[in-house]
Amino acid sequence: MCHFIEGKNVTLGVTGGIAAYKSIELLRLLTKAGARVRVIMTENACWFVGPGTFQALSGQPVCTSVFEEGDAAIRHIDWAQSTDLAVIAPATANCIGKLAGGIADDALSTYMLAVTAPVVVCPAMNTNMYQHPSVQRNLEILRGYGNILVDPDAGQLACGTVGPGRLPEPEFIMEKIAAVMAPDDFAGRTILVTAGPTREAIDPVRFISNPSSGKMGFAIARAARQRGATVILVSGPVDLPDPVDVAVHRVTSAQEMHDCVLQLFGDADIVIKTAAVSDYRPSSPAEHKIKKSAAKMTLEVEKTRDILAEIGQQKGKRLVIGFAAETRDLKNNATQKLKAKNLDLIVGNLIGAAGSGFAGDTNRVTFFYPDGMAEPMEVMTKDKAAHCLLDRIAALKTTVP
Ligand SMILES: Cc1cc2nc3c(=O)[nH]c(=O)nc-3n(C[C@H](O)[C@H](O)[C@H](O)COP(=O)(O)O)c2cc1C
Repeated sequence: MCHFIEGKNVTLGVTGGIAAYKSIELLRLLTKAGARVRVIMTENACWFVGPGTFQALSGQPVCTSVFEEGDAAIRHIDWAQSTDLAVIAPATANCIGKLAGGIADDALSTYMLAVTAPVVVCPAMNTNMYQHPSVQRNLEILRGYGNILVDPDAGQLACGTVGPGRLPEPEFIMEKIAAVMAPDDFAGRTILVTAGPTREAIDPVRFISNPSSGKMGFAIARAARQRGATVILVSGPVDLPDPVDVAVHRVTSAQEMHDCVLQLFGDADIVIKTAAVSDYRPSSPAEHKIKKSAAKMTLEVEKTRDILAEIGQQKGKRLVIGFAAETRDLKNNATQKLKAKNLDLIVGNLIGAAGSGFAGDTNRVTFFYPDGMAEPMEVMTKDKAAHCLLDRIAALKTTVP
């Protein structure tokens, strides 16, 4: 999710394609992100999904005709003037043709000529229709008008055809919308983000790890991508899908994380290390499963390599940002870590505090700066915390060449 969508007026255009049902979920995600959504449906879209569903979920009347009974305002003009973003999902071949040709013969096409806000068009149709030269030409025309096109997925379509034409999942469309709404302040920058825990093998079936979910790091990777950065994400084992348009490297152990990060670090301008890397690992992991016995067992551990410290030493002009998850004395522990590892900023959070910590969707962070300043934040979603962090980094980056 992206807090740049919060409070914005979004118009969702729905046309008569089989994927119209997916726009219900898109509407739900948009309203969950805090957008005020108004829906315009074509007459044919109403054959696939009832306007009542969109009305109930958006809390607004759905526009299906230019000529609404008892409507004093000229709705398509009113809505167009107060729109921050228009998205058409799914966009039929017919609708795309009308947009490209400047035809205004129903509520949606008329509105689309009047709107000046950014427009996101998500084509979805049978593969042969999608690949037809006239549709491709019309899409090119829309691109030329500055519309943002979300390419359809390839796969098995509802009509049985295999090929491109399927409407991408609503979560994917949301990321594209977020990228349109967010500022482009990290364009041209490469950000390396680490996330998740590591696993240190005791034997082939057991390991030492921690409860890091990777949610904070993934939120930062998504937010950085939305703001125009090229993003590399190195993640330990987590149960999260790859963020859209991010190069994801999955690793398991601290050593693998070290090797991967050190190899990729040269390409980055900014490194943000949220991963909860194990400080110790068993000295000699057993080759086979250790059997239970009556005897007491002592596990000998050795230190893993300190990735953050190594990066801090070699950082040159890069900005390096660390995270400190502590159970007590946050300020002292975080500022010590910031100095010891030569960081530009450290994000501290108290594990166990309300709304803060590993697996949840919210976090309560404090930013600690090299000059000793501390900036405590309220509890907020990890997505919002990610953007707040990027706002701070954007301010730092202006002072760093
Ligand atoms: C079952 C069914 C599924 C359809 N699916 C699509 C589709 O996915 N994409 C598309 O461009 N047209 C599809 N069509 C054709 C459109 O409904 C038709 O071109 C219609 O004129 C589009 O109207 P609209 O653009 O005003 O909504 C489908 C038609 C039917 C009967």
